[in-house]
Amino acid sequence: MEINVNNTFFTGKFLLHLPSVDSTNNYAKSHIAKSSPIDGTVILADEQVAGRGQNGTVWLSEAKKNLTFSIIYQTSFLQATDQFYLSIAVSLGVWEIVNIHILKTNKTKLTAKIKWPNDIYINDNKIAGILIENTIVGMNLKYSIIGIGFNVNQDVFPKELNATSLKLEIQKGFDRNILLNEALTAIEKYFLLLKELKFDRLKNEYIENLYRYNILSRFKIEDQPFEGKIIDIDATGNLIIETQTGKEKFRFKEISYL
Ligand code: BTN
Repeated sequence: MEINVNNTFFTGKFLLHLPSVDSTNNYAKSHIAKSSPIDGTVILADEQVAGRGQNGTVWLSEAKKNLTFSIIYQTSFLQATDQFYLSIAVSLGVWEIVNIHILKTNKTKLTAKIKWPNDIYINDNKIAGILIENTIVGMNLKYSIIGIGFNVNQDVFPKELNATSLKLEIQKGFDRNILLNEALTAIEKYFLLLKELKFDRLKNEYIENLYRYNILSRFKIEDQPFEGKIIDIDATGNLIIETQTGKEKFRFKEISYL
């Protein structure tokens, strides 16, 4: 498959398309170690044999069916304490493309949301995951590797993953080249807002599209279930939930949804 990136300013203008690799994030990491990469370099793989997810999990994706890629951005403009806004910007870019394709259908029961911190969901199933790995120098980031796994044309997933694809939801296959172009354009748009340090705007859009925002839901911490409503996120990306006993803050990995 010939991949061309046409509509961005810089993202994906330098693109490495690999038939098979362990992980595009790993490849990006060694690319950074060997050279000074061009800002917006994209590493795209048709197959990953050791794809990585968050929390040391494995990212499974059938060869040539989906999009698995990493973007290398220079992020020295961003203080390490503000790194959650990068996660917000990328989530919004991927969410926007999923949402656009859902809105083009007449399927009013389908809704695209961002599940904190950075999973993209259609209804209650995950369609895309994001793994961001930053290098930090002093107080600021230097490079960020933005790994994205976007389920496009895969028909079957292990049931326990609660995963889905665009094809399963919209009942038609998608051209991965077109979708990659769309995704890179949207991610770049939000990345440019980040570069302008438009934190409030990014956060507001993120909250507007947050999964289970302001809806009484069940969560658990260390097997202890509880009920509450997500009411906010703080500047470092902690989730703020209103529970029966008041407002509480939760870090990533500390809490899970039931
Ligand atoms: C998650 O657990 O939700 C994050 C999944 C991230 C998967 C992508 S696929 C491309 C890139 N390379 C990897 O090894 N992981 C990310």
